[in-house]
Amino acid sequence: GKVAVLMGGTSAERDVSLMSGEGVLQALQSQGVNAHAFDPAKQDLVELKKQGFDRCFIALHGRHGEDGTVQGALELLGIPYTGSGVMASSIAMDKVMTKRIWLAEGLPTPRYVVLPANRQSREDVRAVPDELGLPLFVKPPHEGSSIGVSKVSGYSEMADAVALAAKYDHEVLCEEFIDGDEVTCPVLGQGANAVALPVVRIAAPEGDYDYQNKYFTDVVKYHVPSGLPEAEEREIQRIVVEAYRTLNCRGWGRADLMIRKSDRKPYLLEMNTSPGMTSHSLVPKSAAANGMPYEQLCLHLIANASL
Ligand code: DAL
Ligand code: MG
Repeated sequence: GKVAVLMGGTSAERDVSLMSGEGVLQALQSQGVNAHAFDPAKQDLVELKKQGFDRCFIALHGRHGEDGTVQGALELLGIPYTGSGVMASSIAMDKVMTKRIWLAEGLPTPRYVVLPANRQSREDVRAVPDELGLPLFVKPPHEGSSIGVSKVSGYSEMADAVALAAKYDHEVLCEEFIDGDEVTCPVLGQGANAVALPVVRIAAPEGDYDYQNKYFTDVVKYHVPSGLPEAEEREIQRIVVEAYRTLNCRGWGRADLMIRKSDRKPYLLEMNTSPGMTSHSLVPKSAAANGMPYEQLCLHLIANASL
């Protein structure tokens, strides 16, 4: 078979996707897979069919890649692809919809307020810290890699933070700040067969886990094994698998969480359905700690491509 590694695309995470895709492409080729790069920003997806591709590894991140649209196109073309289907991709790309579903299922996620991107009044914006406390996070609900995200420490910073997030989205997510350990946990599989990989603990100097440091510096340290107590690690894995199943994810995914310092309670922040595969990314670190090197992870994912 002939595999297309979908990479690049048009989202704000294009550069990250090119790094992920390059890694995946090399790994698949090194294992003898007939794999080729395919950038949906440069070529129409219908070309996949004409060029004889019979599987796709989706290494796109963000909009028009991770949000169900490309997945829908591949469904129509009848070409199996890695990762979640249309609905799970679409919901997980929206942090607000994701939180609504998790809350309805009794899963823990930080409290939040949604503001419209353009019509909010000064009073509405100022009311948010009253409700959520300070500091708080302001995020565009449909972005990744910390793009458009601000940590707000005072009322006077709210307007700029909302304006920044509003550049990327039609609504703005304001989220309670959970002070504690930042962790992430990948999941492989589907439904009853979904299994969590080891938890990765992210240690970044205060405020430094941003786009630049996620990909281009070595300021952030990643701990896997996490160093968390065994029972805590197990509990995080349990919650993450439930969060993954609840969204109907398949193939793979990675949930990001905070563990509150005061009572060690875990809070789900989001589910990534097309996680990064760059040299700095977290799923490869976790899989490697579980005895699955990068190449094997890529082979596993493409072998489980489906419609
Ligand atoms: N959004 C980036 C690619 C990640 O979660 O890994
Ligand atoms: Mg994300």
